[in-house]
Amino acid sequence: MKDVTYVHSPSTPFERKVKMSGKLTVESGKLVLLTGKNGSGKTTILQIAAVLLKPLSGEISIDGEDPWRDPWKFRRMIGFSFQFPENQFFEMRVFDEVVFAPKNFGLDDLEERYEKAMGIAGLDPKVYRDRLPFALSGGEKRKVAIASIISHDPEILILDEPLVGLDLPSRLEILDFLKSWKEMGKSALVATHRVEDFEKIADGIFDLDQNS
Ligand SMILES: Nc1ncnc2c1ncn2[C@@H]1O[C@H](COP(=O)(O)OP(=O)(O)O)[C@@H](O)[C@H]1O
Ligand SMILES: [Mg+2]
Repeated sequence: MKDVTYVHSPSTPFERKVKMSGKLTVESGKLVLLTGKNGSGKTTILQIAAVLLKPLSGEISIDGEDPWRDPWKFRRMIGFSFQFPENQFFEMRVFDEVVFAPKNFGLDDLEERYEKAMGIAGLDPKVYRDRLPFALSGGEKRKVAIASIISHDPEILILDEPLVGLDLPSRLEILDFLKSWKEMGKSALVATHRVEDFEKIADGIFDLDQNS
């Protein structure tokens, strides 16, 4: 992305402009952090990167192409999660929660996708299959949420504050997952207000406080 701007609720009393100056690039096999204080625009920029919000000005490209020419093609290459993704669980079984996206994209092999995604996220597919997503522990829920955004086999992961609200062991497990994600040659853009948590695995940082 380059010099992207976005305006929330334009021409209303709630109008709010978000701006990033400079170039933010995430290469394959790399993890880049997006940081900045509360309200600096991290979530907005992530949604633009995920091809969910269209920038007002500036540039975005994925594999050298403008994703807005064929948004759904590019959305399929992305696994995106909001902050506290487990608050948006709505299925009664972990299996259904995890295969929701590939099912919607009309993909097949749901069983294989389920097992693979759970394995990568660090959960035993058999043990969790029929469990109620809402009733899991905090760390387990976060991992189910991760499984649910990688089950359509995306190339790019876009996560909003993935460690917030977790205890230390769960945070370390999510960091392990991110490390293995990079080792698979895939890329990640992660918004965080705590850069130090990601010290060991981050390849770059884009700071919205200094580049807005
Ligand atoms: N839907 C919206 N309507 C109006 N203002 C919004 C909306 N979403 C976010 N904002 C405002 O845009 C700014 C950036 O928000 P956000 O991208 O959520 O920042 P961050 O994630 O860094 O806290 C904030 O001032 C926020 O209040
Ligand atoms: Mg935010």
